[in-house]
Amino acid sequence: MATAHVVFATITGNNEDIADIITEKLEQLGVDVTESEISQTDADSLEKTDIAVICPYTYDEGQLPEEGMDFYDDLQDVDLSGKVYGVAGSGDTFYGDDFCVAVDAFGKALKDAGAAQGADNVKINLEPEDDDIKTLDAFAEKLVNKAK
Ligand SMILES: Cc1cc2nc3c(=O)[nH]c(=O)nc-3n(C[C@H](O)[C@H](O)[C@H](O)COP(=O)(O)O)c2cc1C
Repeated sequence: MATAHVVFATITGNNEDIADIITEKLEQLGVDVTESEISQTDADSLEKTDIAVICPYTYDEGQLPEEGMDFYDDLQDVDLSGKVYGVAGSGDTFYGDDFCVAVDAFGKALKDAGAAQGADNVKINLEPEDDDIKTLDAFAEKLVNKAK
């Protein structure tokens, strides 16, 4: 059975909701999933899974989650070759060019760590709605197919 680790950063719950939706879909697809909050997660735990997913919020005009900086920095020292990754996060389109920049930053960090992108980055405006849930379900399916 394939394994996945879904890591989220959240203040108001939107990115935890996104992580929950992805986790539920991955489990429906037969994946053994671990879900955890970013400040409680060691970056090297991703070396022990097949599929790595990060769900980060963006703050203060394009900043990464403060409590996720150790995790982000530690990604530079892990080897994720042979792993599949995906990033899906919530921001607010009000912030224009800074919309969801943390999604792209974590995607680059995972790629630089050697993982293969399994699905396009997903950027959601505020809380996930019905259309977003469909997008997240398709995202999870692509990750599983890539990991096969
Ligand atoms: C002070 C502040 C700054 C923010 N800056 C950004 C930003 O630069 N880019 C963005 O996409 N969203 C920004 N947001 C919006 C949050 O990312 C958005 O509300 C997100 O859904 C929060 O996720 P969470 O519910 O998981 O905490 C900001 C929100 C606040 C309150």
